[in-house]
Amino acid sequence: MRDPEVGERLRSALAGTTQRLGEAGVPSPSVDARALIAHAAGTERHLVLLDALPEAFEARLEELTVRRESREPLQIILGRAPFRRLMLAVRPGVFIPRPETELAVDILRERSRGPLTDVIDLCAGSGALGAAVLDEIPDSRVLSVEIDPAAAALAAENLERAGAGRGRILRADLLQDVPELSAHAPVDAVLSNPPYIPAGAVPRDAEVLRHDPHRALFGGGDDGLEVPRAVIAWARRLLRPGGLLVMEHADVQGPSTRRAADECGGFDHLSTARDLTGRDRFLVARRAPGEPADGSERLSR
Ligand SMILES: C[S@@+](CC[C@H](N)C(=O)[O-])C[C@H]1O[C@@H](n2cnc3c(N)ncnc32)[C@H](O)[C@@H]1O
Repeated sequence: MRDPEVGERLRSALAGTTQRLGEAGVPSPSVDARALIAHAAGTERHLVLLDALPEAFEARLEELTVRRESREPLQIILGRAPFRRLMLAVRPGVFIPRPETELAVDILRERSRGPLTDVIDLCAGSGALGAAVLDEIPDSRVLSVEIDPAAAALAAENLERAGAGRGRILRADLLQDVPELSAHAPVDAVLSNPPYIPAGAVPRDAEVLRHDPHRALFGGGDDGLEVPRAVIAWARRLLRPGGLLVMEHADVQGPSTRRAADECGGFDHLSTARDLTGRDRFLVARRAPGEPADGSERLSR
């Protein structure tokens, strides 16, 4: 039976932490308070199931609460983020994978024709998309491409955990020519959640503004589409005929990303997929059969 003192300490921790996080403007204070309490207690179990607490519980919780009050993202404090069936490692300075990106894998699986054996994830960050592919598509192989060294190291860990020996990382700037990447063609699919925020836009959430690296957010150029355009041009070079590009973008960028893919050429089917709230969020482009892979001159536009 649980010591009544444990119940009292948990109740007081939950009330106090929820109130403090609410006052700090955290959007879901009681959910975050429960997660911090579990972390301070050193458990992933439901709080009602706890029958003991470590002696340093209150001191640990205080430290975690102060961090969350300063709007440090919950995932960074916990060191992990859920993504589809996986729990990914996350670290400060690397973009935290978002739930809306999870849909890219469903879109790929629903719309692709033929095998999904070789997949490339461009702008990989923590490796979220590639790791999900390795986890969910048996015998798939993934190459994840990322410019940032800290993100590339984290992606290597997440890929290895999701599909040992089937994932590789290439550190490269997609705005440059990358012969090692070109040599990887042809592949069945290209997935990407690139940076796409326009230069003048300011992210709303304190967590995003202060903690996500700017290179992970701002896509370059007035419209934020410099890196996304490079992703489209790389997809043209890398995909086999019939292969699919699924690329995330902002909800206002459906027409402009379709236009960018049309101008790039080499695709015979372009569409925009919506998220669960009905907003335009993903460019879907199918590589045309028999088109020469000659998109290289468009990479740095
Ligand atoms: C929005 S984050 C997405 C990360 C990951 N795909 C995800 O969904 O969680 C974009 C990533 O693109 C990387 N990136 C930005 N510019 C790049 C470039 N020119 N070449 C390669 N990677 C780039 C950033 O470092 C960042 O990790």
